[in-house]
Amino acid sequence: MNASSVSRWLKGFFLALWTFPLLADSPAESLREAARTLHGDAWKGQKVFFDVQHGGCIQCHAVAGYGGRLGPDLTTVGMRLNRSALLEALLEPSKQVAPAWRLVELELPGGARLEGLIQESYAGGIRLLDRQGLEHIVPKGQIQRRKRTSRSWMPERCALSLAPEPFVDLVAYCDSLKSDPRKFERKTPPAGFKSWFNGRDLLEFKPTSGWEAQNGILRHLGRGDHLWHRTDLRDFELRFEWRWMDAPKWESFPVIASSGYELQDKEGKPMTERVLDSGDSGVLLRGLFKAQANLFCYPVGSGEFWEYREAAVGKDRVPFTPRVRADRPVGQWNQMTLRLVGNRVSIWLNGIEVVNETELPGLPAKGPIGFQHEHGRFELRHLWVKEF
Ligand code: HEC
Repeated sequence: MNASSVSRWLKGFFLALWTFPLLADSPAESLREAARTLHGDAWKGQKVFFDVQHGGCIQCHAVAGYGGRLGPDLTTVGMRLNRSALLEALLEPSKQVAPAWRLVELELPGGARLEGLIQESYAGGIRLLDRQGLEHIVPKGQIQRRKRTSRSWMPERCALSLAPEPFVDLVAYCDSLKSDPRKFERKTPPAGFKSWFNGRDLLEFKPTSGWEAQNGILRHLGRGDHLWHRTDLRDFELRFEWRWMDAPKWESFPVIASSGYELQDKEGKPMTERVLDSGDSGVLLRGLFKAQANLFCYPVGSGEFWEYREAAVGKDRVPFTPRVRADRPVGQWNQMTLRLVGNRVSIWLNGIEVVNETELPGLPAKGPIGFQHEHGRFELRHLWVKEF
């Protein structure tokens, strides 16, 4: 973000907050009550976090390398703050504020006052960002008094202005930020499983381009080709983790119901949902490109067999459609377990069964497993396989 876009955004954002109608008796209390009784969805909460129309969180806070720098980095905030501290940080930002983030008041000649966040303090003066997003360079000689207030730069009403459901989703998202996904994590395969990737190089895979191996991570660079393993598998269980690496972007994708059909509005037009998108790939089974369990950011969730679903008619679409969207917020690690016996596949995503013994007609009896190149960069780790 450059200075002028920060300024433009802040102007609109704070104006919106000021003009927001005064809320009922104690909005904080009703949001606390909602957080006690409702179950939040971290995936939806990420959308609130990234939505500039809502709390503007992303403009001030960064998570795993993406976002603003006008507030503390929140990559591991769910680890640092317990639930009550988190609720307090969101609902009463000025209750406890680290000194660097307190609003500063400057008294200028003629009784004028300026309030904002100090961006830089140097011998000749101060660079201050005000709440309208304007930057002021104030020479030292003009500052008659400088006072650090007890109030936070984080606006009091930014989370308070949310409706209960998005608020609870937002809390679930902040709570889900437990560890930095960019950090290395060592795990050993469970009994009966063997590593399917040596963590160092691509020698176990057929020659390809756009992939690299480093420090236990298999990384797709978002260009090049698919990645196929050298070994042919018959019946197996494959476990792996993946995460998207690119900054999430807003996209509108079709809403696919549990029937396997796209939802339509009253005029018969396909309905879409605005989601955060960072990429698209899939696990390719036994050398058959069509037998692809999608890994993507569609609202229907990963684990879908797109081509089979599109070709099926009536009730036959159901088995190719994930039962629920079980994906974690974009950028976090997801764990998939995929079991293929004969031509029946079952998939668990983050511990939730999304596909149950679905038959994949035309699947060869044996063949290699691959990962699709479609769009976006992503990382894979902890790839383990057990053959039956
Ligand atoms: C104008 C910038 C700004 C906006 C917008 C903003 N914050 Fe903050 N936030 C801050 C600052 C500065 C702090 C540190 C001072 C404090 O604790 O109040 C902070 C603190 C926090 C903390 C506590 C962090 C810690 O390490 O203790 C959380 C959690 C948080 N913000 C979440 C959010 C969420 C969620 C939103 C969106 C609803 C949001 N913030 C919007 C600036 C902002």
